[in-house]
Amino acid sequence: MAITLTINGKSTNVDAAPGTPLLWVLRDHLGMTGTKFGCGVAQCGACTVHVDGEPTRACITPHDALEGAEITTIEGVAGDAAEAIREAWIANDVPQCGYCQSGQIMAAAALLRDNPSPDDAAIDEAMSGNLCRCATYMSIRRAIKEAAASL
Ligand code: FES
Ligand code: FES
Repeated sequence: MAITLTINGKSTNVDAAPGTPLLWVLRDHLGMTGTKFGCGVAQCGACTVHVDGEPTRACITPHDALEGAEITTIEGVAGDAAEAIREAWIANDVPQCGYCQSGQIMAAAALLRDNPSPDDAAIDEAMSGNLCRCATYMSIRRAIKEAAASL
């Protein structure tokens, strides 16, 4: 059944089977491949998007539960915190293979939006659900601190 979702501020018609996870609607139905599939069971954070501003695992979130919600993906995340995170990511050369990085950035952008000067514990808590096989954790922490200092 076709429903309308709001993705990156745009009304988007989606016709997918009931219960199809948002991740597959984004990637397969809409061609928005910035959001990645990692584990499929809410364990790695690769698929993190924002739903009404909250970091959300798109791999386990049925798209048809999201009518009326504001969905934001890596392609559309904006605002001072997101821009600061993007710049710090580049300046610190954070990505290695890059696979986990859109999820990392979505988690970090939400953290800084809500807490512009997070301490180490707050950073660890906000980022603990985002795994990186290349182990960029130290660079991520450094970049979040640098982004926070620039806000
Ligand atoms: S793919 Fe969604 S948390 Fe791993
Ligand atoms: S940069 Fe390779 S998995 Fe994180």
